[in-house]
Amino acid sequence: MCGIVGYVGQRAAQSVLVDGLRTLEYRGYDSAGLAIVDGDQMQVAKAQGKLSRLTALLDETPLPGNVGIGHTRWATHGVPSDANAHPHSDPTGDFVVVHNGIIENYLALKEHFVELGHDFGSDTDTEVLAYVIAEEYDGDLKNAVRKAMARATGAYALVAMTAKEPGRIVAARMISPLIVGLGSDETFLASDIPAVLPYTNNILVVEDGEIVDVTADGANIETLDGTPVERDPFVVDWDPGRAEKNGYDHFMLKEIYEQPDVIEQTIGGRISSDGSVELDGVDWGEDFAVNLEKIWITACGTAYHAGLVGRELFERILRVPVEIAYAHELRYRDPLITGTTLTLAISQSGETADTLAAARLAQENGSRLLALTNVVGSTLSRDADDVLYTRAGPEIAVASTKAYVAMLVGQALLAIKLGAERGMLNDSEVVEMKAELQELPAKAAAVLESTAEVAEIAKTICDVDDLYFIGRGLDFAVAMEGSLKLKEISYLHSEAMPAGELKHGTLALVTEGTPVIVVLTQQHIYDKTISGLQEVKARGARVIALAYEDDLEVAKYADRVIRIPRTADMFAPVLAAVPLQLLAYHVALELGHDIDQPRNLAKSVTVE
Ligand code: G6P
Repeated sequence: MCGIVGYVGQRAAQSVLVDGLRTLEYRGYDSAGLAIVDGDQMQVAKAQGKLSRLTALLDETPLPGNVGIGHTRWATHGVPSDANAHPHSDPTGDFVVVHNGIIENYLALKEHFVELGHDFGSDTDTEVLAYVIAEEYDGDLKNAVRKAMARATGAYALVAMTAKEPGRIVAARMISPLIVGLGSDETFLASDIPAVLPYTNNILVVEDGEIVDVTADGANIETLDGTPVERDPFVVDWDPGRAEKNGYDHFMLKEIYEQPDVIEQTIGGRISSDGSVELDGVDWGEDFAVNLEKIWITACGTAYHAGLVGRELFERILRVPVEIAYAHELRYRDPLITGTTLTLAISQSGETADTLAAARLAQENGSRLLALTNVVGSTLSRDADDVLYTRAGPEIAVASTKAYVAMLVGQALLAIKLGAERGMLNDSEVVEMKAELQELPAKAAAVLESTAEVAEIAKTICDVDDLYFIGRGLDFAVAMEGSLKLKEISYLHSEAMPAGELKHGTLALVTEGTPVIVVLTQQHIYDKTISGLQEVKARGARVIALAYEDDLEVAKYADRVIRIPRTADMFAPVLAAVPLQLLAYHVALELGHDIDQPRNLAKSVTVE
């Protein structure tokens, strides 16, 4: 999705903006551009394709100046092209805008200018905003942006700059995320926190329906109707180094290897020695868990797959019905959310448009909303009644790995907390679970030390047309995520399904040599999954099993076995996910794909 950066200060804006855009590359984009004011001159450079095309232009013609805005575009209206790349200008070239999101009434807005005889240079919904701002301008950029916002409808973040007021950037937020980074004698704007982290960790969030006026001295926020907003900045303790590759070839690999740490940090300090679970930000009172009648889980993509694991944990431990729904489905349903319910909205970014909408719907229906997110201050965290932060640090690769594992651990903590509060777990059970959880970092590290088998197997599946992942219960949940990882970065067709479902149709596609990956950690259904394994084996499938290291049975049936250390079955997904992430990584590597920025995908889907 589109990324935004802005800078006002003493440094050369070009390098701050290019570095910021580089940090935002992970969001996925197809073109990039920037505008810098020098004196009263507005200069714009933009190019379709990767950032290197833009930097090649800038190497030829550098843009001097200390004030500017930049953008990475992920096409929604109009194909990826130089002309459609942002920034966009008004006909005089004095006003420029970049924008993230969708302007729903852009055609109606355009019509007015077409009638006035203007020709638009792009097919975007953005360009017309530069025209509207220029038309509304009366000497004060903030007023012009305010009036433009009153004319536009949609979900967006908009940043505007004019050569007539150098030293000032005005931005507005209508749903799409926008933050300000406060430095000394310099101020930054961005769609995501990592873009400003090399310079400052003092962050101010701009909320929906607000305008921010940015100069080197700081930022003033107002609501659309002009009411000043007093908001304290908060400090983000992410280490900027964690947004860099640190010697790994890809962010994805680095993030896979960070997982032992991430598990440890997500658990860190949250279970006390007496076994009680203290989750900062979660405060639903004493009787809530006892009276709880139902849990809803909503999310998209990998976060949804994490929710599949949560569903089973909550159901098993709490004995309450749990329903999980894709956020993009739930938001358009008329769901029966009644009684004392908890809605768990899971989102790494906390900005996924569908997840936000589904979460709000649940809240409107009277549910208590709990956000499980990785980004402090994200929209979801602010909307929710309770927040549990995963502590995965910035995740840069589009294919999510460490955030997923942190979501699993976060849900385990929630299940233990709710289970204890509901009287479903006694102290010794809590202590036992805690001990198992605390062993997970070392066990995940052990998985990462023995990756040779996975890399070997990857070589054998690079050239297949289709492959299948099967499992039951929590193994099925992990299979879903393993299959998604593979699709995302290797572009191989793969499907995951419950092992028992295969014979109801898909088995017809399993022939000699078809790879089938069988996840086999859940002991209570082990024999049942083995039956599924035998069914595919009998059709000539190449079976790759993922099982505990002390499982001697599996080798009798499988062609290859990937091993993980034994743990409580309930927590096995945390460990089983890791080799499947590595498998996807190695296949994509063999195939020479862009691992961190797979085609067509975006890290954070902030439009519907
Ligand atoms: C995009 C990303 C996925 C992610 C999904 C939900 O599709 O490519 O990796 O799982 O959005 O994102 P969220 O930030 O809500 O977890």
